[in-house]
Amino acid sequence: MHEVAEHFCNAAFESDFNWISKIAFFQRTSTMLILVVHLMDNATPTVDVYILLDVMQKIDQVSSPAAFLTWSLDMRQHYPSEIRRKFEQYYKNYLGYFGHRSQIRYNRQFVEILDYLGDRPSARVLEVGCGCGSESLYFGLVGAEVTAIDVSPKRLAVAAFRKKFVEKNLQLTANTEFKNQNILDITKKESFDALWLEQAFHHCEPRGEVVAAIAQLLKPGGRVFISEANPWHPLISLGLFLKRGTKTIKTYLDEDGNERQYGNERIITKSGLAKNLADVGIKEEHFRYFNVFPNWRIFDGLAQHEESYPKIACLHSHYNFVGIKS
Ligand SMILES: C[S@@+](CC[C@H](N)C(=O)[O-])C[C@H]1O[C@@H](n2cnc3c(N)ncnc32)[C@H](O)[C@@H]1O
Repeated sequence: MHEVAEHFCNAAFESDFNWISKIAFFQRTSTMLILVVHLMDNATPTVDVYILLDVMQKIDQVSSPAAFLTWSLDMRQHYPSEIRRKFEQYYKNYLGYFGHRSQIRYNRQFVEILDYLGDRPSARVLEVGCGCGSESLYFGLVGAEVTAIDVSPKRLAVAAFRKKFVEKNLQLTANTEFKNQNILDITKKESFDALWLEQAFHHCEPRGEVVAAIAQLLKPGGRVFISEANPWHPLISLGLFLKRGTKTIKTYLDEDGNERQYGNERIITKSGLAKNLADVGIKEEHFRYFNVFPNWRIFDGLAQHEESYPKIACLHSHYNFVGIKS
């Protein structure tokens, strides 16, 4: 039995395993193996049981982006105090509430990119504006080769710590490299299969240069996945207006003392985004509105059938856009 378990684990972790599509199969098969072990052993746990339980636990923790974030939130007590403080500040909304419904909403952002990575497990992905690194780490754990950039050294310090923490504690490799870089400063051309910008596009400026950079960085046939807040949603637009007024572009000095622009929540409609990207040779391949209610516990009941609400722009707080470079 030990050989069976060992073979199974090796097959899963060391081969060119397409994680996402096989996780469910893996979990079912592991459970069956455990039952067989118990039956054969008269319910005395063996080393195989422990190996399998351990494997199943790891699989659970990376079974979806929300599962990984849940695990990361639970683990924060083990982070050094400064890293923990920054992490908690960054995820303060989710620390308040990251229940079942909230996790479903969180996972909705990743439907398109995870579908894509499921078919191309070792794709080269660039995350622009990776923040504290959750998504880049997740993509790197499930097989993609990820470069993750951000212009905030403090957030990158959290991300880099988390990479070491994940690898040590889950004993899995996150194929993710974090860099303190502005998208406008990447010189490599046509080097990525996919670009991922989650709530980041509205921070990257000047917009014309940013879309040109996106087009340059993608390989021909490569995809850009953009997840954004929807300005047609009245509460989103009102909330942002109250928070930042009408000043949607700010400037700051980067580490070399150069003045740079920063989008102050300068959100964009889907048609505006599609037009900007079309101008640089990126065609719309797919588009989807999602999320009707804010991420508050009181909306749990109402949010149950959110997926089936009519796709009227002003009802949905977010959208996903996938563009393909011709
Ligand atoms: C809202 S956060 C993104 C969230 C991220 N997807 C996550 O879940 O953690 C947007 C990030 O974009 C970064 N950013 C803004 N302008 C950028 C630029 N020109 N190049 C790279 N990153 C940029 C910001 O520093 C910020 O951390």
